[in-house]
Amino acid sequence: MPMDATRQRFLMCRPTYFAVDYAINPWMDPTAPVDADLAIRQWEQLRQTYRDLGHTVEEIAPLPGLPDMVFAANGGTVLGSKALAVQFRDPQRADEAPAYRAWFEAAGLEVHDPKHINEGEGDILLAGGHLLAGTGFRTAHPAHAQVQEVFGYPVLTMQLVDPRFYHLDTALTVLDEHTIAYLPEAFSPGSQAVLRRLFPDAVHASMADAVVLGLNAVSDGQHVVLPAQATDLAAKLRERGYQTIGVDLSELRKAGGGPKCCTLRLRQGGE
Ligand code: ARG
Repeated sequence: MPMDATRQRFLMCRPTYFAVDYAINPWMDPTAPVDADLAIRQWEQLRQTYRDLGHTVEEIAPLPGLPDMVFAANGGTVLGSKALAVQFRDPQRADEAPAYRAWFEAAGLEVHDPKHINEGEGDILLAGGHLLAGTGFRTAHPAHAQVQEVFGYPVLTMQLVDPRFYHLDTALTVLDEHTIAYLPEAFSPGSQAVLRRLFPDAVHASMADAVVLGLNAVSDGQHVVLPAQATDLAAKLRERGYQTIGVDLSELRKAGGGPKCCTLRLRQGGE
């Protein structure tokens, strides 16, 4: 059941230098055209949606030569006063890590350096008092132990098995403290069993919703911002009492990203 909406603080990065110049996931085709101006307008629309909901959007300055920097969820994991910085799998994104790290320091957070490949909130999501941590494509399994050590939350490893859903936040979305939505077949049988045990009332998304990155959604407990194309998922969420807000991020999807990828949650203490 939806909880009361909470005001959120998000970090975003304007897609000034966005492009699809390389392919590090199956969504990316460097030969396909991307409308860079449209990407910026769509991103601005997402930012406006958050502001209209009463959320605060902080921004990090985009850097030339880092076309994926718009995907702020990969910039770190922030919980309370602590930030765990990131280490990307792919060299094309490596230079984003120190830029995000510097932002966290300037914001006064206690910054911890990653010991393993760790792609931040793309793979690490707080749900029901646990940190769900994805692995299989990007964040390395040993990184999960560090996440638990830094934040002191129980960390549950989620094994991702479909390369289209390479980050946890492409296969699972946290709706409120007790509820998630996910695509079961994006997970190994064991991880599916864990999810069923922990979240028996979860919303199961269809493949049709997942392939438009419908699960790459951002919820404040009451309103869910998700790709406009994920119409079946939106209907299921409305049945459960959530208000859904569809946004079109067609250009950013060409890099394999949706609303959640563009959004790093800056959680205050205690949430
Ligand atoms: N092109 C980016 C990559 O492959 C997309 C990142 C999407 N971010 C996310 N949190 N799922 O790394």
